[in-house]
Amino acid sequence: MVPVITIDGPSGSGKGTICQRLSEKLGFHLLDSGALYRLTAVASMRQGVDLHDISATADIARHLNVVFEPSNQGVVVLLDNRDVTSEIRQEKASQGASIVAAHIPVRQALLVRQRAFREPPGLVADGRDMGTTVFPDAVVKIFLTASPEERAKRRYNQLIERGDSVTLRALLDSIKARDERDMQRSASPLKAAQDALEIDSTKMTISAVLEKVVSLVQQRIGLI
Ligand code: C5P
Repeated sequence: MVPVITIDGPSGSGKGTICQRLSEKLGFHLLDSGALYRLTAVASMRQGVDLHDISATADIARHLNVVFEPSNQGVVVLLDNRDVTSEIRQEKASQGASIVAAHIPVRQALLVRQRAFREPPGLVADGRDMGTTVFPDAVVKIFLTASPEERAKRRYNQLIERGDSVTLRALLDSIKARDERDMQRSASPLKAAQDALEIDSTKMTISAVLEKVVSLVQQRIGLI
């Protein structure tokens, strides 16, 4: 069976960066499952579909025409052949993603797509339910957290660096709203798998977290 390493956790916990670096280090494929929910929200908004309309958003999820193209600047995301790499990272897409992610038929439609990323030599999967629902047989499961204040600060620095105008307060409110929706929903809520190792990154640097994850992977699969 192709080995899978899952890293789940709330937004801003550092899992995106960790997954990217880990997949490069191992030469594994990378699944950014959040991007699929963001794409479903962006495609729905573009087609004038109400994000609360369960069957219409599920239909959009089922027929997403998306390409993830590696480039020197990271992965370029194409939706219907249009570059939406930065659009899917905007706050509107973040909030929209967490609305459509609560719909069971949307999650079912995206499940098959996510599992298709499991290709040799292995996969690093980033999300909320990678270890609990999508890859319950993953060889290593990590649940990465950090305090909401620290996560808002990280996101603020990212967005300011990108030239966006945001306030720390608004970001903290948005992170809390998204956490609440992701944890309270009945379909695949954000929670640690029973066999996941929890890492609180609030006071850790990215390299310290990466070191810890790499040593766990080494113990379990001895690939590095
Ligand atoms: O990880 P990211 O912040 O890009 O995810 C955006 C949203 O997509 C999350 O807030 C969550 O609602 C949803 N999501 C999910 N399950 C996943 C990945 C993301 O519900 N596996």
